[in-house]
Amino acid sequence: MRLAPAGFGRVVGDAQTLPFGSGVVDALVMPFVLFHLPALAVALSEVRRVLVSGGAFGAVTWAGHDPHPAYDVWVRVIDEHGAPPDPSPQMPSNDITSDPAKLRHALQAAGFGEVEITVERFRHQPSASEFLAHSQVIGAMARRIEQLPPDRRTACLAVAEEELGRLDPDAFIESGTVLYATARAT
Ligand SMILES: C[S@@+](CC[C@H](N)C(=O)[O-])C[C@H]1O[C@@H](n2cnc3c(N)ncnc32)[C@H](O)[C@@H]1O
Repeated sequence: MRLAPAGFGRVVGDAQTLPFGSGVVDALVMPFVLFHLPALAVALSEVRRVLVSGGAFGAVTWAGHDPHPAYDVWVRVIDEHGAPPDPSPQMPSNDITSDPAKLRHALQAAGFGEVEITVERFRHQPSASEFLAHSQVIGAMARRIEQLPPDRRTACLAVAEEELGRLDPDAFIESGTVLYATARAT
């Protein structure tokens, strides 16, 4: 992952009410963002609004995950330590953005043409310690363990570390499919 260079312009805003005028952006990308947005149709209309005519839009979304034994262990250990449910489930539009036909329809309905959607496989194999470190800071399970009292959280992480340490390296393979969508403002 790379950060934008220092001095590069940054704006913080909601993708569902983009803080830009109409027809002023040549190209806009939203990698792994669309499924987070409760108002997907509104966001896509906003993208269409700010793009110049013929402007390009690109998005990457999750399509499906293969079985992931290390993640299953992580979830079980967290359940066993009584962590409350995720306080803010974050993929309200995943039903649409994980389905090529539905995503295509949503883009077309928002005023996009030349819609191209490709399905690609991904594969990532962290070590046990990389998996544990990453899983504590991002995702639904990180939000769950954050709600545990400190002593229970420490106990939970110790059990997780011990159980994950016993797994075969293949158990950490995270794989599945993502959708790459590109389209042009008509
Ligand atoms: C999974 S991260 C992807 C980050 C980055 N694009 C990448 O690929 O590494 C999802 C991003 O969507 C952003 N996000 C979620 N809801 C948003 C909203 N309503 N408006 C703008 N950004 C939002 C989050 O702040 C987060 O940075």
